[in-house]
Amino acid sequence: MKKTILITGGAGFIGAHLAKRLGQDGHELILLDNFNDYYDPGLKEARISKLLKDTPHTLYRADLSDLPALEAIFEKHQIDHIAHQGAQAGVRYSIDNPFAYGESNLMGTLHILELARRHGVKGISMASSSSVYGDATNIPIQESDCEDKPISLYAATKRATEHMAHAYHHLYDIPITCLRYFTVYGPWGRPDMAYFKFMDLAYAGKGIEVYGQGEMERDFTYIDDIVDGIVLSIEKNHPWAVMNLGRGHAEPLMDMIKLIEGYTDITFEKTYLDMQPGDVRETWADTSLAKELLGWESKTSLTEGLKSFVAWYKDYYHKN
Ligand SMILES: NC(=O)c1ccc[n+]([C@@H]2O[C@H](COP(=O)([O-])OP(=O)(O)OC[C@H]3O[C@@H](n4cnc5c(N)ncnc54)[C@H](O)[C@@H]3O)[C@@H](O)[C@H]2O)c1
Repeated sequence: MKKTILITGGAGFIGAHLAKRLGQDGHELILLDNFNDYYDPGLKEARISKLLKDTPHTLYRADLSDLPALEAIFEKHQIDHIAHQGAQAGVRYSIDNPFAYGESNLMGTLHILELARRHGVKGISMASSSSVYGDATNIPIQESDCEDKPISLYAATKRATEHMAHAYHHLYDIPITCLRYFTVYGPWGRPDMAYFKFMDLAYAGKGIEVYGQGEMERDFTYIDDIVDGIVLSIEKNHPWAVMNLGRGHAEPLMDMIKLIEGYTDITFEKTYLDMQPGDVRETWADTSLAKELLGWESKTSLTEGLKSFVAWYKDYYHKN
């Protein structure tokens, strides 16, 4: 059934890819983004003008913390479903910019939940994060391993949004699914993330710092797989669910570096450093709940996914 779907963070990495897919499926799309300069806003503009060139949508340049601006959008459009992707992301940035997380993640999410209640929205799919697990060491990490001991302000706000969502679900019967993404990567990705920075450094002729003496392993999830999961969560619209979306196994960070070296034909100079405080050597998602509730599984290998990312990067930044 065709729906009117509001995507917050619609010019962001995940939001724009999601818009492209939902547009192909024929849904009416309302995109909201404040195009902030946490990273190059030009990339956000390009996602709209290039990635979404053939995707009909209505775009609002508004801030999640601006309730009257949001209210006007809900009054103008009868929104069926919200894919809430807009947030202040990043762990390190929260050290110097704590209030950005309060305004965008806490207040922004509260505004979205309250407007969903006031305007009879039929379901919400919310972006959460593997960071809610703090330094829990169980592997693979299951949803029940969340000990509520966040180790960054970003994680604290993401976990708080899950709690706020549950209260709104409980009080007002709004179906809400919180999806805990594990390191998402791919074309049109985020320049603040390691795989993207490695490319920048490679082309700048600079070396890279490899933490954990090159022994760290992470769960890297390809963007198309994440989008599949969000789309399924919208279709199934479970009354309440919290689940991991990850590749479902750990990949050595060194494999990622070697793949990038192979695809760029550049060999990095590497400085091996110890793990940073709070880092864990290995982490990956147990995705059996997403399989059970959504019929979802990640399909894309790191080899394939990074190949697509590197091809996009070379094209976008004219590195061929
Ligand atoms: N990319 C990942 O690896 C990852 C992992 C876990 C969770 N997440 C979550 O997924 C969601 C999407 O992440 P992303 O990687 O696409 O990040 P992104 O930064 O590319 O996208 C977020 C978008 O939200 C917008 N935004 C931020 N604050 C806003 C505000 N106050 N008002 C309006 N718009 C605002 C930004 O301009 C940006 O375009 C976020 O909620 C993030 O926390 C991402």
